[in-house]
Amino acid sequence: MAKGMIISFEGTDGSGKTTQIKALSRYLEEKGYMPAILREPGGTRIGEEIRSILLNSDNTEMASLTEMLLYASSRAQMMEEKVEPLLKEGKIVILDRFFDSSLAYQAYGRDLNFDAVLSINLAAVKNIVPKITFFIDITPEQSLKRRQNATATDRLENEDMSFHYKVYEGYKKLLEKFPERIIRIDGTKEAREITNEITSYVDNVLKEDIR
Ligand SMILES: Nc1ncnc2c1ncn2[C@@H]1O[C@H](COP(=O)(O)OP(=O)(O)O)[C@@H](O)[C@H]1O
Ligand SMILES: [Mg+2]
Repeated sequence: MAKGMIISFEGTDGSGKTTQIKALSRYLEEKGYMPAILREPGGTRIGEEIRSILLNSDNTEMASLTEMLLYASSRAQMMEEKVEPLLKEGKIVILDRFFDSSLAYQAYGRDLNFDAVLSINLAAVKNIVPKITFFIDITPEQSLKRRQNATATDRLENEDMSFHYKVYEGYKKLLEKFPERIIRIDGTKEAREITNEITSYVDNVLKEDIR
């Protein structure tokens, strides 16, 4: 049996990650694989507790470093408890966001030191990196439009957009840094067309893996 592997999906909210993950999972099932889909914190009890600190809107004083470390902690727990056992069973693990999200949101978005965020996250995942990462590329404006009918924006929303742009530009820098792992997918195409593109990349990876 082929070795287990991680396939991760990245991109801004509304870029189509969940849509494509479902389609890829269906495709793999038809081919006889039993992929596992996980989204952080991956259903771990400790991860859920960490996540509740991150999501608690009372925690307004949370430092960016604290936020980054908490995400990395939740990720470490999911790796050990869920992902590693699945990989050992030879499963394909599809991740809806992974450490690239911390690089885009915490390093580029919140201006934390890139090398620090990278090395902390690599330690958290014990250097187990995805075989392939799909970055579904739609701009923050397209993303906003997709989720709601964009109307006049207020000051806060503008601030929000500038953060989302930093994250988006961050993803593009990640493409340059990790060209052999991260694949850019044009997220403005029709969902079905995107699925075909993704499944053909995955087919190639699976072929490689059998050899
Ligand atoms: N290729 C596409 N073109 C247009 N709309 C899409 C496409 N893919 C997904 N959508 C729609 O965009 C919205 C967000 O998609 P979703 O898969 O939930 O994104 P994400 O998981 O990245 O937030 C949904 O309403 C979905 O139906
Ligand atoms: Mg989603």
